[in-house]
Amino acid sequence: MDILSMNKAELKGIIVANKFEASKALLDEAFEIRKLYYGNKVYVRGLIEISNYCRNNCFYCGIRKGNGNVNRYRLTEDEILLCCKKGYELGLRTFVMQGGEDEFYDDDKMCRIISSIKDKYSDCAVTLSLGEKDKETYKRYKNAGADRYLLRHETASVKHYKKLHPREMSLENRKKCLYDLKELGFQVGAGFMVGSPFQTEENLAEDLLFLKELQPQMVGIGPFIPHCDTPFREYEAGALELTITMVALTRILLPKCLLPATTALGTISKNGREKGFMAGANVVMPNLSPTELRKDYALYNDKAYTGDEAVESIKNISEKIKRIGLEIDFSRGDNVDFVEN
Ligand code: 5AD
Repeated sequence: MDILSMNKAELKGIIVANKFEASKALLDEAFEIRKLYYGNKVYVRGLIEISNYCRNNCFYCGIRKGNGNVNRYRLTEDEILLCCKKGYELGLRTFVMQGGEDEFYDDDKMCRIISSIKDKYSDCAVTLSLGEKDKETYKRYKNAGADRYLLRHETASVKHYKKLHPREMSLENRKKCLYDLKELGFQVGAGFMVGSPFQTEENLAEDLLFLKELQPQMVGIGPFIPHCDTPFREYEAGALELTITMVALTRILLPKCLLPATTALGTISKNGREKGFMAGANVVMPNLSPTELRKDYALYNDKAYTGDEAVESIKNISEKIKRIGLEIDFSRGDNVDFVEN
C-alpha cells in the first residue's frame, strides 16, 4: 500500500475502506512513521484564545459575527503576557495566540504583543492563529518575532468551501494566505474538519492532496461539531473513526509534520485524543486562556475546556500520554526541518 503515490481516486478508496474503522495496518504504519522523526515525543503548546470577536460569518463556527448570543471578550496585552508567564512557569515553550478575525488588534498592537513575548521569553516559540491577513501584515508579524502560523484551509474543494462560508470568503484567498506565510518563512499549519456538512469522501481525498502539495509543517484535523447558534445546528458531528483515519493518512503523507490530537477530537470521545496519538498525532495544545473566559470561546457545543483540555491538568495529560508508551516533551518542538544548529 503506497499511500504517498496515490491519486485522488485511490486515496478516496482508502478513505472509504477505513471509514468506520481505521485498519490495524494503517494505524501501525502511521505510528511507526511518526517515530522516524520525533521518536515517542508529544509536544505541548499553550493555547491563548485572545479574542472571540470575529468579522467573519462561517456557517459552522460558534463565534461567527452573526451570533448575537456570544459573550464577547478580548484580552489586553497585559492579560496575554500574564498567560505566558503562567505557561512559562508550567514549563511551556510555545505560545499559540488564537482568535477570531478581530480588527481591534491592528498591526502595531499585534506586533507589540509579539515582541513583548519574545523579549521576555526568548527561548519560546510564538505561534499565531488569527486568520486571513495581507502579506504585508504577515511580514510585520514575522519581523516582530512570530515563528509559526496556523490557518486551516477547512476544505480543499472550491465547491465545498462555498457551502461552508459566506460569499465574501474564498478558498483562493485562503490558499494565497498559506502560500504567503510559507514564503515569508513561517512554519505553517493547515488543516480541515472531518464530517463537516456536505463533505464527501472525495473532498477528504482532495484535502490530502492539497496537504501533499502545500507541505505544511503542521496540520490540524478535528471532527466538525455543531453549534446551536449557527446555520449548521441541525447537522451531525463528524465521526471519531473517520477523523482517526484522516489523522493516520496525514501522518503517512507528511512524515515530518507536527500533528495535534485536537480539542474537538477530545470533545467527541472520552479517549479521542489517545486514539489520535495512536494514529500518529504528536502535539497537544492545552488551554492557557484566563479560566473564566474559556467557556466563551465556544466554536462548537460542549467544547471541552476543563479536565485534560486545561493547562492546569498538564500532569494528568502527561500521565495519560505515558500510559500509551509516549512521552510529553516541553521543548519548543520545532518541525525537524526548522531546527537551527
Ligand atoms: N466544529 C469543529 N471545528 C470547528 N472549527 C470552527 N468551528 C468548528 C465546529 N463547529 C475549527 C475550524 C477553525 C478552527 C479554529 O476551529 O477548523 O479553523
